[in-house]
Amino acid sequence: MKTLILVIALATATLTSNAYANDNLAAIMKHMGADWKTIATQISDATKNASTIATVNDLIQQINLAKQETPDTVASGAQTEADFQAQLTGVQTTATQLLAALQAGDNATAVGLLSTIKTAKDNGHNQFDPQN
Ligand code: HEM
Repeated sequence: MKTLILVIALATATLTSNAYANDNLAAIMKHMGADWKTIATQISDATKNASTIATVNDLIQQINLAKQETPDTVASGAQTEADFQAQLTGVQTTATQLLAALQAGDNATAVGLLSTIKTAKDNGHNQFDPQN
């Protein structure tokens, strides 16, 4: 009976524990992922530019929040917070150029800039979130 209780307790702990040490960062990135989906879906549709611009602005704000967080890979000493912040700032810079392109109605340029952000996103994940 004691063993059964122990097994149930361990199973419950495993199921309810969060895989992430930093829940805030996971939530912010999740929000960024939703923005990303909207932006990627409508980037070449000029009739949606007002909505895409609002979403890119939101993405930039979320990155400000992400920069205040410490990913597990930095907490463990494998990476540095300065590098984490610099890469996120790089994405913000490109996102600001993306805003300008959309404001100018230049969706072709916007598509190219989104592809630059995708590369930075993938590199950032490979370096700072390698298990996923
Ligand atoms: C537009 C760019 C980006 C988008 C849309 C994005 C999106 C996401 C998404 C959807 C997740 C999974 C969240 C979850 O459901 O748990 C994630 C996780 C993560 N991303 Fe990003 N990301 C971006 C850029 C970056 C960059 C540049 C870096 C690093 C400099 C980065 C670092 C991380 C880390 C460390 C995690 C794991 C967080 C954790 O759960 O502890 N991301 N990101």
